[in-house]
Amino acid sequence: MDTLASLRDEVLAAVGAAGSLADLDEVRVGALGKKGRLTGLMKELGGLDPEARRMRGQALNVVKDEVAAAIEARKTDLEDAALDARLAQEGIDVTLPPRPDGVGTIHPISQTMDEVIAIFAQMGFAVAEGPEIEDDFHNFTALNIPPEHPARQMHDTFYLPPHADGTRHLLRTHTSPVQIRTMQEQAPPIRIVAPGRTYRCDSDMTHTPMFHQIEGLVIDRSTHFGHLKGCLIEFVETFFEVSEVPVRFRPSFFPFTEPSAEVDIGCSRKGGELTIGAGDGWLEILGCGMVHPNVLIACGLDPAVYQGFAFGMGIERIAMLKYGIPDLRTFFDADLRWLKHYGFVPLDLPTVTGGLSR
Ligand code: PHE
Repeated sequence: MDTLASLRDEVLAAVGAAGSLADLDEVRVGALGKKGRLTGLMKELGGLDPEARRMRGQALNVVKDEVAAAIEARKTDLEDAALDARLAQEGIDVTLPPRPDGVGTIHPISQTMDEVIAIFAQMGFAVAEGPEIEDDFHNFTALNIPPEHPARQMHDTFYLPPHADGTRHLLRTHTSPVQIRTMQEQAPPIRIVAPGRTYRCDSDMTHTPMFHQIEGLVIDRSTHFGHLKGCLIEFVETFFEVSEVPVRFRPSFFPFTEPSAEVDIGCSRKGGELTIGAGDGWLEILGCGMVHPNVLIACGLDPAVYQGFAFGMGIERIAMLKYGIPDLRTFFDADLRWLKHYGFVPLDLPTVTGGLSR
């Protein structure tokens, strides 16, 4: 018994002293391996008489279990220590200041989109997307613009070659088809903004064939024009980062909204310089209105139950106003000097609380 007790102490001490997984394995083989010392004692059991064999066997098993458990525990400790050492060695210091040089800049269109989305996200709007290649139904008909409607001519649409049945796909002329897709896919209450590219066959000082819009849509049981006004006034003040911007809702016409309005913001053009928020000038920045009952019906919603508002605005236009970019066409010239001048630092993500633009 004494030899067993001292063997146990000796092995346990060796386990505790093992400094590496390899050392530990050596100790394990020496005690529990085929030719290990405990295994050797087990083999001697056969020579004992039954009563002595039972007693000795029990004692040996206790020691064996104890040693195995000690080895397992030590193994976990060593593995943890190895992992800690690796983590310490491979760690990245996230407190190091970022080095934005050499990674380019964020294009003002992307920046402006992100800013607008951040503002509406803060108000509880989700982002929705739709295809740039649309069909006639989503781009026109469902938006209360039936075939032969004069509004179709106003849109300078790019059509794709006709299909065998005579129908033609087109490049969406506005982001409003995303309203239709959203109402078809999800039940009210709906609160989305849909940013994206839009196309019109038009190219001059103030038009490019591809441009960007962001659409907004809110549908619920009791949404009214007051909500529309409050929401857009809040947006304008947050986006232009000036409080108390004069905002004017001027009656207008869109086939898919009734009543419709265009929103103007106050500005001054004193000394040839444009300042948002003061003065006696007005600048149009977006179109909006209460969703037309025919649009709700086209999407399977009952206009006696649901109502809401929609708005749409051009990203280039509000980017030019906010950042003093004088020429629309420069947005798409891919001129590196322009991008360096008007671009934004990639690591400054716009948030309403942290600052939209810095
Ligand atoms: N789709 C309109 C346009 O492109 C903008 C708009 C959207 C107006 C939603 C009213 C409501 O001019």
